[in-house]
Amino acid sequence: MNVYHGGPRLGLFSLALLLVGLFPLVFAHAVSAQTQGLGDASASIQHDFVGARKCKSCHGKELMGDQNATWGAGPHAQAFKTLSNEQSLSIAGELGLSGAPSDAPECLVCHLTAYGVPEERIWKPLKREEGVQCESCHGPGRDFRKKKIMADLDKARANGLWDPGNDHEICLRCHNDASPTFDPHRYTLSDGSTRAFDYDQAAERIDHPIPEHVKGRYLELRKKQKEEEERQKNR
Ligand code: HEC
Ligand code: HEC
Ligand code: HEC
Ligand code: HEC
Repeated sequence: MNVYHGGPRLGLFSLALLLVGLFPLVFAHAVSAQTQGLGDASASIQHDFVGARKCKSCHGKELMGDQNATWGAGPHAQAFKTLSNEQSLSIAGELGLSGAPSDAPECLVCHLTAYGVPEERIWKPLKREEGVQCESCHGPGRDFRKKKIMADLDKARANGLWDPGNDHEICLRCHNDASPTFDPHRYTLSDGSTRAFDYDQAAERIDHPIPEHVKGRYLELRKKQKEEEERQKNR
């Protein structure tokens, strides 16, 4: 097993430290020295987190492509539960952590959404057991999750929707060499060379698209679907 023993943290980690320097306000809160610059706490957070359940009302619909179900069956939704498995206990033992990994800031910072983010930025307590949720990649959603805003990409961006398709740093806040399971050869590129992280392949592994024929038309199609449901009922 490739356990991180505290060797030189170069590259990404220095970048994380730079981010810490740039956003001192975010770090005014009590996040311990070891966890600074990792996970969502290293993002510039300007809106409130609401949790995956608030996205489910629309993104759990079949018509939409049920992103909620795909996420729920993928690695990120399991990230908190992972901290109780045998591999985690053995990592914690090797690192000499005193408590359980599921209570350790050294692990939670990347295995939960909004860990270390100032509490006033978290609207409702996020459920730990839901692990790394939508907002870790799409941004804190309290202001963009409204129907009319969501359906207009420019408005959604102006209200805090991030763009993980273009901003791969979002992934690298957690997918970096501060992870005890970091593996510099995890991804193999088409030329045979290896990388710790390859955005295209990684995004493919967690793919949860809006169906092609629905993209940009969800509200219109949903309205038709509701009208049809009404007609069926009144028959
Ligand atoms: C808040 C931290 C965090 C962010 C941000 C994050 N991940 Fe992850 N990711 C994790 C954790 C933790 C796991 C391991 C989950 C488990 O198995 O318990 C993981 C696992 C994965 C896996 C499965 C393991 C592997 O490498 O094949 C993929 C694929 C993945 N993430 C892709 C992404 C992509 C793509 C992004 C950015 C769009 C991203 N992640 C952003 C924390 C994060
Ligand atoms: C810097 C962010 C980060 C930190 C800190 C972190 N993890 Fe992770 N963890 C990840 C990511 C990302 C993955 C996905 C694989 C990878 O890239 O390492 C992961 C994967 C894992 C896995 C493997 C899941 C699988 O099924 O393959 C275990 C176990 C795990 N982490 C345990 C821990 C424990 C225990 C701690 C605390 C001692 C910890 N992690 C701290 C980001 C982190
Ligand atoms: C680990 C990161 C990560 C998590 C967690 C995550 N997403 Fe995504 N999501 C992505 C990435 C990456 C894309 C592709 C972005 C692109 O290509 O521009 C994406 C795309 C999407 C899209 C657009 C699909 C399309 O066809 O345009 C929707 C909608 C979406 N996600 C909703 C959600 C919802 C809802 C959740 C939670 C239930 C969630 N995502 C969880 C990273 C994530
Ligand atoms: C009230 C319904 C609703 C809620 C709640 C909602 N969304 Fe959306 N979302 C939409 C609609 C409508 C679209 C546009 C669908 C289309 O293409 O027609 C959309 C699109 C998206 C996209 C794709 C943007 C793009 O690239 O085009 C992402 C990502 C996304 N939502 C994430 C989220 C996240 C994360 C949450 C929770 C914080 C959330 N949404 C909550 C209705 C909602």
